[in-house]
Amino acid sequence: MAQPLTIEDLRILAKRRVPRMFYDYADSGAWTEGTYRANETDFAKIKLRQRIAVDMTDRTLESTMVGQRVAMPVAIAPTGMTGMQHADGEILAARAAHKAGVPFTLSTMSICSMEDIANHVGQPFWFQLYVMKDREFIARLIQRAKAAGVTALMLTVDLQILGQRHKDIRNGLSAPPKPTLANLINLATKPRWCLKMLDTPRRQFGNIVGHVSGVADVSSLSSWTSSQFDPKLNWDDVKWIKDQWGGKLILKGILDPEDAEIAAQSGADALIVSNHGGRQLDGALSSIEALPAIVDQVGNRIEVLFDGGIRSGQDIIKALALGAHGTFIGRAFLYGLGAMGEKGVTLTLDIIRKELDVTMALCGLRDVRNVDERILAGGREGAIRRLSAA
Ligand code: GLV
Repeated sequence: MAQPLTIEDLRILAKRRVPRMFYDYADSGAWTEGTYRANETDFAKIKLRQRIAVDMTDRTLESTMVGQRVAMPVAIAPTGMTGMQHADGEILAARAAHKAGVPFTLSTMSICSMEDIANHVGQPFWFQLYVMKDREFIARLIQRAKAAGVTALMLTVDLQILGQRHKDIRNGLSAPPKPTLANLINLATKPRWCLKMLDTPRRQFGNIVGHVSGVADVSSLSSWTSSQFDPKLNWDDVKWIKDQWGGKLILKGILDPEDAEIAAQSGADALIVSNHGGRQLDGALSSIEALPAIVDQVGNRIEVLFDGGIRSGQDIIKALALGAHGTFIGRAFLYGLGAMGEKGVTLTLDIIRKELDVTMALCGLRDVRNVDERILAGGREGAIRRLSAA
């Protein structure tokens, strides 16, 4: 393929280069994948207002997220098994994020550990936490995060149990992949991935393996989730984690204004409007459709961030116009990583930055912090009407 110009170009390349079970793990949603698809297609329903003959010199995309300066209002979302899209994937993505001036969030279910990021990237990063039954392990994880230079903790509140993703079951998803005949045949078609993977020691869940005793098999995300994640997770636990951590806290996975209200009263610094990339409750609203009501409910009391379905700078500007203060990209960066390693993540961030910049200019603005409903055709109500139309 010639130089990739869009996130879709990178997705196609990643599909070619990444073993099927890991490509499918990223590019899938729960059950019918209806919510997963709606996250993307709903963005296309929203229309922008083109403005002309406006001075477009001296534009800026700089903003803040959770009190941190960012080169654009975009951060890398936590994604499980990133180091299986490409060897050392989390280290490479964290480096690319740092060079682009945007935050990187490491998942609890990452392949590279938080110590790996601290040692090999040496820059502050954010850490996403899942709550497991073993609270001592969680307390230790939080202490390790502090020691590793984590500057914000992101608590995921929508995954006490895992939404079923059919492809993962059919593919027998595990890290590292089991040497079955089907896997070996597929791996034989991905020599570049295999060579790089043979060259790294990081092939298991790095934050977990070697840190919990008495757990025999941590290779499968679904069996680890069902045996270890705490289905009793509730708002008291959020308070406990806030006290253990004592720093900036982000709650990820809010889709309903009533939950947003509780989140706003919890003392967290920010919430992320998110349906976990359509990977949990199939049939839920798309993230962009859920956003306006949450902003109405709590937007002046807690920082409202957004993820779900972002594949371009145009998508980002629409989320900002509907009241998000900042956004996260998950699959968009995974496709870049799977396609071209660190260079691919840099390219993802570059593509998105250019799209955001030019789109903002063509909407008649020069400062991303001034983006609001005035750039939407029909304003906020127009966007909401288009989103709810069949
Ligand atoms: C884990 O966060 C997943 O969605 O697979």
